[in-house]
Amino acid sequence: MRKPEPRLQRKLLAWLLGPLAVLLVLDTGAAYWNSLRFSNLAYDRALYEIGREIVLHVKLDGMQPRLDLSEAAGNILLLDQEDLLFYRVASEDGKALGGDAEMPPPRGGDPAKPRFYRDAMRGEPVRMLVAWMPIGGNPEAPMVLVQVAETLHKRTRLAWEMVANVVVPQLLLIVMATAVVWFGISRGLEPLQRLRRAVSDRSHLDLSPIDTHDVPGEVRPLVDEVNELMARLGRTFDFQNRFVADAAHQLKTPVSGLKAQIELALRENDAERVRHSLAQLYISADRLSRLVRQLLSLARNEPGALDAMQLQPLDLNAYALEVSMDWVPQAIKRDIDLGFEGAEHPLVINADRDRLRELINNLIDNAVRYSQPGGRVTVQVGRSDHDQCRLAISDDGPSVPVEERARIFERFHRLLGTQEDGSGLGLAIVSEIATLHGARITLEEDIDGVGNTFSVFFPLRAA
Ligand SMILES: Nc1ncnc2c1ncn2[C@@H]1O[C@H](COP(=O)(O)OP(=O)(O)OP(=O)(O)O)[C@@H](O)[C@H]1O
Ligand SMILES: [Mg+2]
Repeated sequence: MRKPEPRLQRKLLAWLLGPLAVLLVLDTGAAYWNSLRFSNLAYDRALYEIGREIVLHVKLDGMQPRLDLSEAAGNILLLDQEDLLFYRVASEDGKALGGDAEMPPPRGGDPAKPRFYRDAMRGEPVRMLVAWMPIGGNPEAPMVLVQVAETLHKRTRLAWEMVANVVVPQLLLIVMATAVVWFGISRGLEPLQRLRRAVSDRSHLDLSPIDTHDVPGEVRPLVDEVNELMARLGRTFDFQNRFVADAAHQLKTPVSGLKAQIELALRENDAERVRHSLAQLYISADRLSRLVRQLLSLARNEPGALDAMQLQPLDLNAYALEVSMDWVPQAIKRDIDLGFEGAEHPLVINADRDRLRELINNLIDNAVRYSQPGGRVTVQVGRSDHDQCRLAISDDGPSVPVEERARIFERFHRLLGTQEDGSGLGLAIVSEIATLHGARITLEEDIDGVGNTFSVFFPLRAA
């Protein structure tokens, strides 16, 4: 079997690491921005110092300022290992006094204060200082405009170094947290793995409850439900097994009877006696086929058959009369007075026609069969309540003893000493069909103390 993926574990981890990763990115951005600010603060001071140094080389020629800075001295001033530096000095009237002619013109802002900003020089980004400074550093002297620009290499490097100092430990922390969390979740999910193994190692016949003593509280209700389901399945299996065993047992006797009768008939030479044996065989085969039909009917009307029911509105009054009429020839044959007492109005219920016919047939069959010849059987239909109607079949034969009244509805149960043919399935079928219709059955003695009244109470169909 393929090992199922620990989805829960991955999910939990993704939920933890996803937000952490986003936080880390945001944090890195913020750290970079901050570091760059500090790095600029530090290096801008140096840039300003260079500006002041350059102004010291501006001399006054009468009223005219003049920059007196040799190339060699300038190079020393602008010497830097990492970055390129540029400068430009201009007089108050805007005349260039020296430096780089390609220097971009100063941008707006307060001319009284030195300004630092980002600009570009020959296509490369630079940090720019623009400041008005007095000639020769003398506060009384006229002012000149000094610009010093520097490429950004060391500033960016310093900023990244500072970011790394902050972010690398954080990254390590996250990696460690991931490992710890992964381990923790694995440990936490171990009982679930054990549970899975316990279920997968089981035989399909083993329906005993799963041990819940080390099942985590969160999954316990689920396991309890599964145990409950298995218990129900177990009961169903037991029931089915018993039924199959009973059915086989019940079929065995008539089949052996049939065989014996056939053997007997085979030994006969007299045509008339063979004919008689065949007639007996026919009766036995008929009984057997009824038994098989009843077994099928029981299987068909299991409590789970509700979905297969074809419920439709049906007038119980008219339908019970129709079914009873079929029994008239049989009743006459047994000298039974079969009567019908219907209601005045139709009583509409939701019913499956075929199943309802089977229910009525079985009850009338019993009443006709178990009463004495010359007896009386009555089918009654009436309203019993504002939302119920009652179908009753009463006879005046021997009453079923009180202690047997519940048991005769069980499968294969017959009263001791019952002479008539039968397999004890009729009332079990009746009871199943009644349940499928939401109906309730009672069995009472007749009012005069003899005979039986089987009543079935059906819910009336809402108007
Ligand atoms: N109206 C009745 N009067 C007296 N006894 C009855 C009556 N109905 C049922 N019984 C008793 O209850 C037993 C069970 O009835 P049920 O209809 O389940 O089985 P059966 O009639 O014996 O066989 P089957 O109906 O399967 O042919 C019967 O054997 C009989 O002893
Ligand atoms: Mg019966």
